[in-house]
Amino acid sequence: SQKQDLKNKQVLITAGGTIEPLDPVRYLTNRSSGKMGYALAENALLRGATVILISAPTQLKPPFGAKVIAVQTALEMAKAVETYYSKMDIVIMAAAVSDYRAAKPAAQKIKKRDTTLALQLVENPDILLGLGAKKKQQLLVGFAAETQQLVQNAAKKMVKKRVDLLVANDVSRSDIGFGSNQNEVTFLRPHQKPLLVKKTTKEEIAAQIFDVLLSQ
Ligand code: C5P
Repeated sequence: SQKQDLKNKQVLITAGGTIEPLDPVRYLTNRSSGKMGYALAENALLRGATVILISAPTQLKPPFGAKVIAVQTALEMAKAVETYYSKMDIVIMAAAVSDYRAAKPAAQKIKKRDTTLALQLVENPDILLGLGAKKKQQLLVGFAAETQQLVQNAAKKMVKKRVDLLVANDVSRSDIGFGSNQNEVTFLRPHQKPLLVKKTTKEEIAAQIFDVLLSQ
């Protein structure tokens, strides 16, 4: 039987990879499956939390009992997060947010013309950075997908984005992470040593994330 240690807690989780339209039939996205975010939502529900799941498109079934808000783009995700942020106790940004979007998505399908095609992209807002800057009671969690110098790069993100927990994973490994049911991550917290969570299921990592948040 699961301890109801998130009872009366408001938990917001983002999940999936945002998609950014280029024209009516094409878009930019990334390899996020949404599995980590959905596992977090399931675990929070088991522990008695009220859960809002802001989800970019995934193949996953919505966790029973969560309020699910479907979004596509980073701008839509930013707006949805903004709506709920002030009332939340825990906010976990597990979504893979596109850093860029088309400067001007084409109204009509882009025609094949030359041998090369240049796309003009503009920066999306960094949602988590904005949340960290106006943090009050919220415990804030971010993820960092790195392909090199995992701990060093992730530690910089933890400080810059003012999160209480940064979950770092090495996306250069094919046996874990994107699309996989398993991951191996390192937890980084302010003023604490990095904590390695050896390769395990995303469900187990989700449980450990809430365990460390509740033990701070
Ligand atoms: O800087 P980087 O993209 O590696 O940071 C990853 C963390 O920041 C994730 O928690 C992700 O959800 C969040 N993020 C965001 N808005 C962006 C880019 C990333 O909230 N535009």
